[in-house]
Amino acid sequence: MASDEAIQATNDDATLSKRFAVQVGYWSDPYIGQFANRGTAAAPRRAPEINRGYFARTRAIKILLDQFLKVTNCECQIVNLGAGFDTTYWRLSDEGKKPKNFIEVDFKAVTSKKCHFIKNRKQLLEKISSEDGEICFSNYDLHADDYHVVGADMRNLSEFESKLNECHIDWKRPTLFMSECVLVYLEFDKSQALLKYLADKCETAFFISYEQVNMGDRFGQVMVENLRTRNCDLNGIDACISLDTQMKRFTENGWTGAEAVDMMKAYKCLPHDEVKRMEKLEFMDEQELLVQLLQHYCICWAYREHVEIGLAEINIHSWNQT
Ligand SMILES: C[S@@+](CC[C@H](N)C(=O)[O-])C[C@H]1O[C@@H](n2cnc3c(N)ncnc32)[C@H](O)[C@@H]1O
Repeated sequence: MASDEAIQATNDDATLSKRFAVQVGYWSDPYIGQFANRGTAAAPRRAPEINRGYFARTRAIKILLDQFLKVTNCECQIVNLGAGFDTTYWRLSDEGKKPKNFIEVDFKAVTSKKCHFIKNRKQLLEKISSEDGEICFSNYDLHADDYHVVGADMRNLSEFESKLNECHIDWKRPTLFMSECVLVYLEFDKSQALLKYLADKCETAFFISYEQVNMGDRFGQVMVENLRTRNCDLNGIDACISLDTQMKRFTENGWTGAEAVDMMKAYKCLPHDEVKRMEKLEFMDEQELLVQLLQHYCICWAYREHVEIGLAEINIHSWNQT
């Protein structure tokens, strides 16, 4: 399998893991199950520490996302980079918190599958706004009033830019960029160029990035070697050495400020009642495995604001203010 294909296949893995965790009841997502072929069996079992890791990942991202929506009063846009089969658009629609525009970018091989599922699933299709009822599908892209899915390789900035323009991106609007386990697959110089490009284009922007950290140790080496046997290279590993390298990739590329915490710390910041309920779902005898896993992922957020609107105050500790 070519390397790009292996990278695209990581979306299948993430989707299956999320589907399994949702089946067990870690969190609610009525839409993730729609991104599977009809008649597909239940998602294969994942170990409890993997499920808890996904719970923490999903919950921590949502905490930051909700604060951004509150600060901007939903007068904003969201651009999900390497979105895979992410379901945030539909979940925000159910919560009555849709932004003015929601754009998802991924490789064409992934967006073509996403478009196919959306086209053929009433539950997904009926929630997409379109004034005249028209949703424009092509092989890899979907355009509706406030939702767009486009196929582009983000290493190619001119292709990326022209695709964003097709989605009527408004660079003057406060914009949230998200990348969930994505930047690590881009060569270091390519992700640097992407982050700089976004900072140069957008005056008021917030970025949420979730991915590996502390990758210089033995656990990190094993992860890299395992993925390499599947022909999947973590090309951007240089930014994943420490929390510091994670933050610097933003502050050295035009972003005003950045913060990063490993997922062990983030886990402790999550709403305690939710964590208590979630930890009762499955018995986990090897606590150390969870700790090790959480210590090797982090959530990093960064902002830049031309006029202060409160983006600097958004924080993983402030979930109780949303
Ligand atoms: C691990 S999956 C994560 C999917 C989704 N963000 C989630 O967390 O469920 C990584 C995604 O990044 C996408 N990706 C990686 N490199 C990319 C690139 N250069 N251009 C576009 N998409 C890319 C892959 O195709 C894949 O869908």
